[in-house]
Amino acid sequence: MKLTRKFLAFLLIIVLAVVLVACGDEEDGQADDTSNNDNQTEAETETESKSEEEAEGDEEQVTLVYARGLDTTGASEKLVQAFEEKHPHIKIEFREMPADTGESHDQYVTMFSSQSSEIDVFDADVIWPAEFAQANYILELDRFIERDGIDMDAYFPGTVAAGNYNGKQWAMPKFTDAGVFYYRSDIVDSPPETWDELIEMAAELQGEEGTEFGYIMQAAQYEGLITGAIEYIASYGGQIIDEDNNVVVDSPETVKAIEKMQEIVNSDFVPDNILNFQEVETENAFIEGKSVFARNWPYMQASSEDESRSKVVGNVEIATLPAGDAGVASSLGGWMGMINRYTEHPEEAWEFLKFMTGPEGQKITAIEGGSAPTLQELYEDEEVKNARPLFANPEFVATLENAVPRPVSPIYPEVSDIMQIEISKALTGDQTAEEAAKNMQTKIEEAMQE
Ligand code: GLC
Repeated sequence: MKLTRKFLAFLLIIVLAVVLVACGDEEDGQADDTSNNDNQTEAETETESKSEEEAEGDEEQVTLVYARGLDTTGASEKLVQAFEEKHPHIKIEFREMPADTGESHDQYVTMFSSQSSEIDVFDADVIWPAEFAQANYILELDRFIERDGIDMDAYFPGTVAAGNYNGKQWAMPKFTDAGVFYYRSDIVDSPPETWDELIEMAAELQGEEGTEFGYIMQAAQYEGLITGAIEYIASYGGQIIDEDNNVVVDSPETVKAIEKMQEIVNSDFVPDNILNFQEVETENAFIEGKSVFARNWPYMQASSEDESRSKVVGNVEIATLPAGDAGVASSLGGWMGMINRYTEHPEEAWEFLKFMTGPEGQKITAIEGGSAPTLQELYEDEEVKNARPLFANPEFVATLENAVPRPVSPIYPEVSDIMQIEISKALTGDQTAEEAAKNMQTKIEEAMQE
């Protein structure tokens, strides 16, 4: 009797242990690197803390596929090089995704919803983490973060929060973005302070120093139109969705903002095809010396100074965007790093992600790529400050801190689609600004009720 009870207790322990191991495996998802699994102890030690040097020695060669949108700055190559030098057993194959964030998004969704493992690590727009986490496309990072003692307090809190969903960290902040105003310092001494001043100056200065346009911006029907529209709407005092989750986009402020956008895209100082302009078109035209003013993200400072591409080296300054009635507003953008849940190499993928979003990787992205770090310490770093004076400028840091986020909602892609359609129709003259504001209101409300 005694023996049997002991035996049953023993059995119970075994069963529990098996269940725990199975759960662990499940939680790790496809986290086990099968190529490295030939011996249990090796696989076990791999997930435990191990110094980097130790980890390098005996490992098999692994090739990771790292995907991101078009990078015109050359920073990604340098980042990959620096990583491979430190981790000779990991090779990074680069997969270029479309420059249009919405198109990249759709391609990732297609891949991940069929559980494809063709990509290991990828850059994710700051608006994706909640959706990707909910859909189970990506790996939770907490166990890696804890194991390797990554100090999440070293990052700007907003950028960490953007990668957190349901109390778990799904993405590591790579760089943050805020819309900025570029101007030709060989043409003007000081940039316009309001949208109305911009309209006046752009018309007046167009043609100076061989320019063709006064102003260029992102006005195509895609995600970038929304980041732009939010800048106009917020600068006139409007909002899309308020703190209590009410849709408040149908307002006199929104109408005024859309009318200002209409005035600009219909003016003679923008290119005829401004409604096809995304970031890349803006960048190409600006660095070829074709425009006096431009709206873009900080990365364009790198391209503007690139001797091999730019005709305006030394003639470009950056300022805050012009103000509306309510002041100045920049949209909050940025990119995070994520790991495909179905990667066959979670350990190596994490190594790369950790490097890319850690101080060394972010320094390369800041210096070579011109994009703003999410690690606060880098704003005090001499090399970063010397290479990128913008990041040492308190006005820019304030712009980053006050940047306006896009509506935070699990159905954000739908909200964005509605806005893209309605604002585009106003810009092409197919409806008035009032109609655009009303339609956005009813359609976003409907989408949120579904
Ligand atoms: C930039 C921003 C990103 C935004 C995109 C829009 O890449 O960082 O957040 O969605 O522009 O085009």
